[in-house]
Parts: sequence; structure tokens; C-alpha cells
Amino acid sequence: MKKTILSGSTVTGDLTLGNYIGAINTWTQLQDEYDCLYFLADLHALTVHQDPEVLRKRTHSFFAQYLALGLDPKKNIIFAQSQVPQHTELSWILTCLTPMGYLNRMTQFKEKAEKHVKNINAGLFTYPVLMAADILLYQADLVPVGEDQKQHLELCRDLVGYFENRYGKGIFKMPEPMIGKTGARIMSLQDPTKKMSKSDENDKNRISIIDDAKAIEKKFKSAATDSGSEIKYDVENKAGVSNLLTIYSVLSGKTIEQLENEYVGKMYGHLKVDLAQVVIQKLGPVKDKYDDLMKNRDYLDQLLVEGAERAEARAEATIKKVYDTVGLVRRR
Ligand code: AMP
Ligand code: TRP
Repeated sequence: MKKTILSGSTVTGDLTLGNYIGAINTWTQLQDEYDCLYFLADLHALTVHQDPEVLRKRTHSFFAQYLALGLDPKKNIIFAQSQVPQHTELSWILTCLTPMGYLNRMTQFKEKAEKHVKNINAGLFTYPVLMAADILLYQADLVPVGEDQKQHLELCRDLVGYFENRYGKGIFKMPEPMIGKTGARIMSLQDPTKKMSKSDENDKNRISIIDDAKAIEKKFKSAATDSGSEIKYDVENKAGVSNLLTIYSVLSGKTIEQLENEYVGKMYGHLKVDLAQVVIQKLGPVKDKYDDLMKNRDYLDQLLVEGAERAEARAEATIKKVYDTVGLVRRR
């Protein structure tokens, strides 16, 4: 029996090179070895204000980017969260088991509440409960996420415990985070002490998966480097150059040491120009494939429906047991 892997990405901003290197690239490597489900967390996106047209387009766009980056809809179940109603159904039941005090401690809630002072809605607060429902519905064994999601996964594991205390064992599988196995952490191009983020206000901080060659060249050209001129991996003193070397290494398959040797006596500018070309070579064909897919929305919709149907069959098996267990009468 293959182990089940589940992960998702909130449908906000623009998928970045960081998402590719830190997550999607790893997902494509897992697709042969594991039973994988990957979804677009569009319900989670609603916790901050979304323009309806933009959200709709972004759901298609993210999905097309997943496919263009090599996630195979035959080998994985790829779907949109909102198209499988069991997510919200389980979320409510779990919400009724979640102590308010626990949610109050969530770092991401505190950060987001500070950032969106005018829209601190209850969804932002219960966000991690919906995430727990996402995971538990599919009896996932392993959940590849970034460091920032570890606390949410801990809540999910605790909810399994609360549920079992109240109703007994055997309904949910205890999920494990898969943190070490995700790829390198890619930093912002302008401020290499913070993570390259898809929701960063400054577009120059990130390389988007669907940036064109010109934008990629320009962004690397203006990337922050450090005083000095030596091209050496040293995160403490040369965060900018180290970040560029990391990206270069992951995409070219060369080790950091190899790259350092190649660039002895060369300038930062050389590294930036070459790196831009490496990224363009990787993302160019992805962008072409993406553009093709986006011309055919019906095809994308069809694939989404197929993904949702496969996901729903599995989610329904779990929610049925949950309804029975907690004393709700499920419509047959
Ligand atoms: P997010 O963009 O925060 O929704 O994250 C989606 C996934 O991409 C998570 O698994 C993150 O760990 C990964 N990810 C996002 N940004 C980066 C980054 N800058 N470097 C590495 N991984 C990232
Ligand atoms: N909260 C996650 C993020 O922002 C996205 C997400 C939602 C998720 N539900 C999930 C990730 C379930 C893993 C499993 O990155």
C-alpha cells in the first residue's frame, strides 16, 4: 500500500520560483512513489478580501501552472477545495471541538490580524480548522508543508486526539508533517532575509512562474547583493549571493561548490546574467505550456471536475463515518 500525501496552496498572489523549488518540484518527485492529492485552497483564500473575478481567474491560473510545472492529473488527484463540499462539512464539526484559546495562540493568525486590521474575520481565526479538515478527510499519512505551517499541523494532530477522547478511536489517521523533505527556502530578491512570497506587495521581490524572459532578466539584475565582490555561499554575511547560488544550484543540478569554483574572479553581474538564463530556460517552456492551457478553459474545467469527483469519493467515505459517529443523520 502506498502512503497518502496531501498538500495544498492558498489561491492568492502569484506562484513563485520559491513555491516551485520549495513545494511543487518536490510534489512532482513524489507522484510516482506515493498516493498523492494536491489541491487549490480557494476557500482559504476567502479569509482575506478577494475580487471575485480575480479569484476565479486565479483558480484556473494556479491549476494551469501546476500542470505546466509537471504535476500529472493521472498520477495525482488535483482539485479545487471548494468543489468538494465535505471540506466545509468536516470543518464545522471540528470547529465545535476546537478551543478558542488554542486558535488565539496561532502565529499566522496574529500576523495576519496585524496585516489586515480592517478585516479580522472569523474565517481568519478558524483557518487552521479548515486546514485540519482538508488533511483528515483523506486519511493523509504525510503532509509536505513549509515551516510556517507546522503549528497548524500540530493543531490538526491535537484535533485527532480531541475527537478520539470524545468519540473513540479509528475514524482519522494521525498525519505527520513532511518538512525536511521539501526543497530549499528561497528568499526575496530585494530583501534576502525574508522569504520570497507570492503575496508580497513588491513584485520585484519574486520571480513569478509566469514571468516572461524580460521580467526575469530585469528582476535578477536588480536583485540585492552584498558589499564585497566574492561569489561565495555565506548566508550570514552574503544572504543575497547565497540565495542566488541556491536557486542556480537547484535549477542547474550543479553543487554550490561547483558554482563557487566556476565564478572565481567573476563579478556579481556575471552570476546574475547567467542565472537569469538558467531560470528562463526552465520557466520558458513552462510558460508556453501554461499559455496553451489557459486558452482552453473548458478543458481545465473538465480536469477540475474529474479531480473533484475522485477526491469527493474518498472524502465522502470519511465524512459518512464522522456523521455516524457524532450522531448526525447523513442524507443517503
Ligand atoms: P504559500 O506560498 O505560503 O502558500 O506556500 C505553499 C508552499 O510553497 C508551501 O509548502 C511552502 O513551504 C512553499 N514555499 C512558499 N514560498 C517558498 C519559498 N520562498 N521557498 C521555499 N518554499 C516556499
Ligand atoms: N495553509 C497552507 C498554506 O498557506 C495551505 C493549505 C491549506 C494546506 N490546507 C492545507 C497545506 C492542507 C497542507 C495541507 O501554505
